[in-house]
Amino acid sequence: MVNYKDLGLVNTREMFKRAVAGGYAIPAFNFNTMEQMQAIVMAAVETKSPVIMQVSKGARNYANATILRYMAEGAVAYAKELGCEHPEIVLHLDHGDTFELCKDCIDMGFSSVMIDGSHLPYEENVALAKKVVDYAHQFDVTVEAELGVLAGVEDEVSAAESHYTKPEEVIDFSTRTGCDSLAISIGTSHGAHKFTPEQCTLVNGVLVPPPLAFDILHEIETKLPGFPIVLHGSSSVPMDEVNTINQFGGHLEAAIGIPEEQLREASKSAVCKINIDSDSRLAMTAAIRKHLAEHPGDFDPRQYLKPARENMKKMYIHKIVNVLGSDGKLACCE
Ligand code: 13P
Repeated sequence: MVNYKDLGLVNTREMFKRAVAGGYAIPAFNFNTMEQMQAIVMAAVETKSPVIMQVSKGARNYANATILRYMAEGAVAYAKELGCEHPEIVLHLDHGDTFELCKDCIDMGFSSVMIDGSHLPYEENVALAKKVVDYAHQFDVTVEAELGVLAGVEDEVSAAESHYTKPEEVIDFSTRTGCDSLAISIGTSHGAHKFTPEQCTLVNGVLVPPPLAFDILHEIETKLPGFPIVLHGSSSVPMDEVNTINQFGGHLEAAIGIPEEQLREASKSAVCKINIDSDSRLAMTAAIRKHLAEHPGDFDPRQYLKPARENMKKMYIHKIVNVLGSDGKLACCE
């Protein structure tokens, strides 16, 4: 049994409290590789932002659970080496689907876990979330649960249709489960194809997706004042990255994300954690495709992974500073 505190990690409780009060959101970036981890840490240190590094079940299968855990421990040491004396780094399980998986992560040093029972009947979702909370809280590990279903595909999580969170359920759910934060469904979805072109309106040659259901978000905020809310599926799928991918041999059709203005607006509310994975994948792929197309003789992975890491770092910094507003929000800076 390893406690996250011994690894220099923190849970989400204090940072969420400050984010809700301060009207900004903490970035939750998924990682699978060393380059993603390095880019996340460099961006967080440069902007003096707290950060959530999250690992999905797919990431655990790809990179190995133990390796990812040591990478998070390494992330804390790396942040200090880069000059950040008191980094606030959370190691979070994204979309845990069983009690056993959550327990396994808690036992190996995660500081936060998500138990996603959103696809289950309501009472089963409550029971599963409560079981995870009861275990996690013994070790001061924070728990995110979910109400409502997001559409889209991400690693092993997929749903054909979304179901918005029902505001009338949130008080009962948060009280009975004791969860520390609640992921809600208000129109975001996983992946790089969040909307079909038919769902969008063409404005000045750009496809604009339907707005998020801010009325539902505000109703939830009214019912649970100050309670930390989480938005999954919040990549904005930047067109310049999609165009670079397509220009250099890729084929991404109708890739559409959440406009950044809407995420900026959500960050000012009780939404205090915003999940971004696809944008990192796009930034990495675009840089690698461009580099290899322009340097066909290169075969040393460092030659193409270095620009990929730079491009991800640029994207993470942009999200932190221009979208979520978490720059300069380390406890030691405030
Ligand atoms: P995106 O696919 O929009 O990046 O969402 C990631 C996510 O919600 C991880 O849980």
